[in-house]
Amino acid sequence: MFQTIEWTPEGAVRLLDQRRLPAEEVYVECRDVAAVAHAIRTMQIRGAPAIGVAGAMGLALAAQTIRATCFEAFYAELLRQGEVLHRTRPTAVNLAWGIERMQRCAAAHKALPVAEIVQALIREAQQIREEDILGNRAIGAYGRGLIPDGATVLTHCNAGALATAGYGTALGVIRAAHAAGTRLSVWAGETRPFLQGARLTAWELQQDGIAVTLITDNMTGHLMQRGQIDLVIVGADRIARNGDVANKIGTYTLAVLAQAHGLPFYVAAPLSTLDLSLGDGMAIPIEERDPEEVTSWAGVRTAPVGVRAHNPVFDMTPHRYITAIITDRGVVRPPYDTGLAALAGQSVVTSTASLRDSVKSTHTP
Ligand code: MRU
Repeated sequence: MFQTIEWTPEGAVRLLDQRRLPAEEVYVECRDVAAVAHAIRTMQIRGAPAIGVAGAMGLALAAQTIRATCFEAFYAELLRQGEVLHRTRPTAVNLAWGIERMQRCAAAHKALPVAEIVQALIREAQQIREEDILGNRAIGAYGRGLIPDGATVLTHCNAGALATAGYGTALGVIRAAHAAGTRLSVWAGETRPFLQGARLTAWELQQDGIAVTLITDNMTGHLMQRGQIDLVIVGADRIARNGDVANKIGTYTLAVLAQAHGLPFYVAAPLSTLDLSLGDGMAIPIEERDPEEVTSWAGVRTAPVGVRAHNPVFDMTPHRYITAIITDRGVVRPPYDTGLAALAGQSVVTSTASLRDSVKSTHTP
């Protein structure tokens, strides 16, 4: 099994280069913040929870290289390097979440010598990675019952092990249902222009032996109309207080189509994707990337030279289109504002044992 991102015994960050999948499985080693920032910006690593872990590990790398003897100087530099990481991609709130959690960890250890704070930060980054995997398994456990036996499930982009530290959110639910013996098959939308669905989701599901059929994004309405899709499950990059969800461009279109055809539309995401500072989704920043991603593929031009192209890479799905949000703390149904806030008030999973307890004690679907 591949590792999306990990901290090496030599004190570097090793990540699977997702730009080269599925043709090649190549790992990249990052030794400083600049290398991690480059990996996030160029999408060698992508997916909201995965870039949250990358941000945290990037700050652990920063901590190793900061030459400061007092806490104040160390912390000021940690904040500055956090800004460098933060500026790489604007939509997924997990990035800011990971960076801020590391900065809080440093502040909590301010009484210790700097060398010990560095060790605490390295442990914290690894803990964030571990928690993400545990959280995804919890999402799977909560969500698997939402997939009926024999269902055909549509997913968009890649919300799998590659988009997280492991296991996945939307694909975690699919994996958990499959492991529990539910017969299912998946339609993977190719997800223009970066092709996360074609390159990554199809690859991941194939490796797990889960039946997957690739479609282009414009085939979904037709399949829904013919009764060939039973439900939709996607991930999320940021969820506002009222349950509005930013996710990969095209998600909103699928949600409207699903509602028009009376199909359930589920969002699977850890609570680290929740942004309680935003009342609704219109305030979520939407990243715009190089139009060249639209006019060419793999260096080959597919549109006429000189044509204008537009490339917003996320969209916002209003909460009224969402049947339920499957989190690492339980399944939330409308009204989302109270349900999400109640879950966010709960304590954080820190070990497999506490995860098991929380999965048992929280309402399951
Ligand atoms: O641009 P990307 O590939 O980083 O976008 C990823 C998505 O939109 C995913 O659906 C989202 O991050 C959820 S991943 C568990």
